[in-house]
Amino acid sequence: MTISKNKCSRYICDCVNDLPPSGIRKFFDLVSHMEGAISLGVGEPDYVTPWHIREAAIYSMEKGYTMYTSNSGTPELREELARYLTAHCHVDYDPGTEFLITTGVSEALDLVMRAILNPGDEVIMADPSYVSYPSCVCLAGGKAVKVPTRVEDNFELRAEDIVPYISNKTKAILLGYPANPTGAMMNREGLSRIADLALRHNLLVISDEIYARLVYGVEEVCFAALPGMRDTTVLLGGFSKAYAMTGWRLGYAAGNQEIISAMTKIHQYTMLCAPIMAQKAGIEALKFGEPDIQEMVSDYNRRRLMMVKGFNNIGLSCFDPKGAFYAFPSIKSTGMTSDDFSETLLREEKVVVVPGTAFGPSGEGYVRCCYATAMSEIEEALSRIKRFLDKRR
Ligand SMILES: Cc1ncc(COP(=O)(O)O)c(C=O)c1O
Repeated sequence: MTISKNKCSRYICDCVNDLPPSGIRKFFDLVSHMEGAISLGVGEPDYVTPWHIREAAIYSMEKGYTMYTSNSGTPELREELARYLTAHCHVDYDPGTEFLITTGVSEALDLVMRAILNPGDEVIMADPSYVSYPSCVCLAGGKAVKVPTRVEDNFELRAEDIVPYISNKTKAILLGYPANPTGAMMNREGLSRIADLALRHNLLVISDEIYARLVYGVEEVCFAALPGMRDTTVLLGGFSKAYAMTGWRLGYAAGNQEIISAMTKIHQYTMLCAPIMAQKAGIEALKFGEPDIQEMVSDYNRRRLMMVKGFNNIGLSCFDPKGAFYAFPSIKSTGMTSDDFSETLLREEKVVVVPGTAFGPSGEGYVRCCYATAMSEIEEALSRIKRFLDKRR
């Protein structure tokens, strides 16, 4: 016997009831049965994981690696990560005590919020930003405080703009650069100003650097490597984007031993460990995946240039994104809201874009378009969007 939906809704807790559904999911649902649709909506590489990385996982299963690992992750993966972060990010962590291997950055975000927040504690973040940020804070009993960012400032989170939002409840600043949805980067100077501010106010910084390897011609600065920031920064990183490993569910947190061990406490009761075959694959990726990253990045760069130029050519002014794989064109000239634009475009031209407002109110007037899509699809999507705009001019 099935129990009707409204009979069970009373069992759902207020916090979850009050969470808005993801504005991205809504578009996936709309498009799932639409033939001939082109999706610029999904924030996922269109590559499959490089073969040698898949092979490492297959080989590990053949050898019988099918069990739990240590809660923190295998020592080999942590050691490899420590070497990788020293080489690429110029920051040193102790593989024994300063890493936690997680099921993606998603889990790491959830754990860090639950490890640090008391009810009502506040976390400052940029608006617009990744859809999970405010939800993770809210589910941990905290309050997300969103600081508007603007195209005029290249969508950077400026230290001076954060100041008025700091209260006696502020616990942390959550940074996500290269940024989803804008593709924005922060330079060393801007990040250093945030570091000074965080030190002055005793705030923890959580730096989600999942897109750190996907940057185009600019310096990628690891926040934890800034002077004095190693111990009060929790660095979150992952394999999903750089190595096209979204389905493997592998990520990590690195930071001060006390915070990592608090996160590990929650992880050991709720997740136990990340899948061993994914961890084996992660070691292979870190050791031998550099050429794959280089190849994907130069390919994404070609698509990035094509998409940004394409939007500007058809009259949608597009911010020049220097990281991740998203373009964030302005649709203000159409007079439509982001939601209207996205829904009507999908209905009339079968092109999926995500309304900027899915990422926060400052996303109004923009749409997010992922360029980790074949060039031919990007070309076709742009010509459909042009037709859509021409009909309204
Ligand atoms: C900014 C950002 N952080 C974290 C994640 C989650 O990554 P993972 O696949 O490692 O859970 C995403 C996924 O799109 C993201 O865009």
